[in-house]
Amino acid sequence: MTGADPLASKRVVLGVTGGIAAYKAVELCRRLVDAGAHVSPVMTEDATRFVGEVTFSALASEPVRRSLWGGPEPIPHTRLGQNADVVVVAPATARFIGCYAHGISDDLLTATVLATRAPVVVCPAMHTEMWEHGAVQDNLALLRRRGVVVVPPAQGRLAGGDTGVGRLAEVDDIVRSVRAVLGGPDAAGDLSGVKVVVSAGGTREPIDPVRFITNRSSGKQGHALADAAARRGARVVLVTTTERPVAAGVDVVRVDTAAEMEQAVLSAAADAGVVVMAAAVADFRAKAPATSKLSKADGVPDLVLEPTPDILAELGRRRRPGQVLVGFAAETDEVEDRARAKLGAKGVDLVVANDVAAPGAGFDHDTNAVTILGAGGGSTRVGLTSKEAVADAVLDAVAECLSAGPEGPDERGARRAR
Ligand code: CTP
Repeated sequence: MTGADPLASKRVVLGVTGGIAAYKAVELCRRLVDAGAHVSPVMTEDATRFVGEVTFSALASEPVRRSLWGGPEPIPHTRLGQNADVVVVAPATARFIGCYAHGISDDLLTATVLATRAPVVVCPAMHTEMWEHGAVQDNLALLRRRGVVVVPPAQGRLAGGDTGVGRLAEVDDIVRSVRAVLGGPDAAGDLSGVKVVVSAGGTREPIDPVRFITNRSSGKQGHALADAAARRGARVVLVTTTERPVAAGVDVVRVDTAAEMEQAVLSAAADAGVVVMAAAVADFRAKAPATSKLSKADGVPDLVLEPTPDILAELGRRRRPGQVLVGFAAETDEVEDRARAKLGAKGVDLVVANDVAAPGAGFDHDTNAVTILGAGGGSTRVGLTSKEAVADAVLDAVAECLSAGPEGPDERGARRAR
């Protein structure tokens, strides 16, 4: 990292809630202090069952607080909230997330996050079943909509000995997110200063003014990619067909049809460093959509279809030197073979092979499993995990392509294969 550390001299409230990952908050506290931040730990009662207050007192520059009552200040939450440059909650339990989303402030930490105007970074950690529960996901969506930064949990061994999504994100990733929040999008992150265009959702091709042809895409994976790219410092333009919430700082262009998406993507891509086509673009549209509603009384309509423009292939033709292009291949059969064929056919650097028939993967799930295929023959398998974690894996591969330089996909691919 160049220049001053955005954490230097910043006042960080570190909220620690009651989960087994509370012990990792000790390392996080140390890292924040080492970076020059003034860290005020706020522990919930349950957190103290996992880690002792003394551990944080020994590391942090400010006293540990646990309660709204009995301390030296009469209203500690207002002072903590008003003075903070950033509030980081790690680990954040399902209960904390629920309280925060619904404005329930029954302890010092929940009162502090409601009392602050500073950015808040929430790092959930819980069992996979809880993480995937609709209540938790809806609460997080609500928080994201309000501008809260969520650092998604990773896949790995959980407290009960089983494996799944829900493990607290790596301390490195949390620190990186906090730096990005404090320093603005260009201050940190491996995509700092890179313009990233992401497309998301399924296009809608009109048949008449009330009917359209579409597909099952929910836009979740594309939105997760846009959010992750923004978190990693990129300037993000998201061209989407859905109304899903997006992270602060992402420029959103809402479109409906493949033609609208083509225009928006090609225009945004002209000066972009990276384009990720996660959208499920309809392959066919009605050749002559009716201008008035078709009536059943007129009999079965003769629906003549024509191909839509292949946006990704066009991007491949217009590619700027050094621009990284990523396609998705949503398949149900011979997934990797078909995906690999698209690498060459569309002239892209990476294709994310997505078996949309696999359990827990693909359309509308909060989880996904993919194989990221590179032009040079390399591949990275990402087992069933959150769409946020898949997004980060795709962006890891993108960052690798960017650092390989502007020699184009063939040479770049060949170099990676060597
Ligand atoms: N794509 C695109 N424009 C289209 C169709 C697809 O840009 N008209 C992009 C998608 O966003 C995705 C990639 O191309 O990144 C692969 O899409 P997919 O539908 O799987 O492949 P197709 O080329 O349409 O071929 P097929 O449907 O026959 O597999």
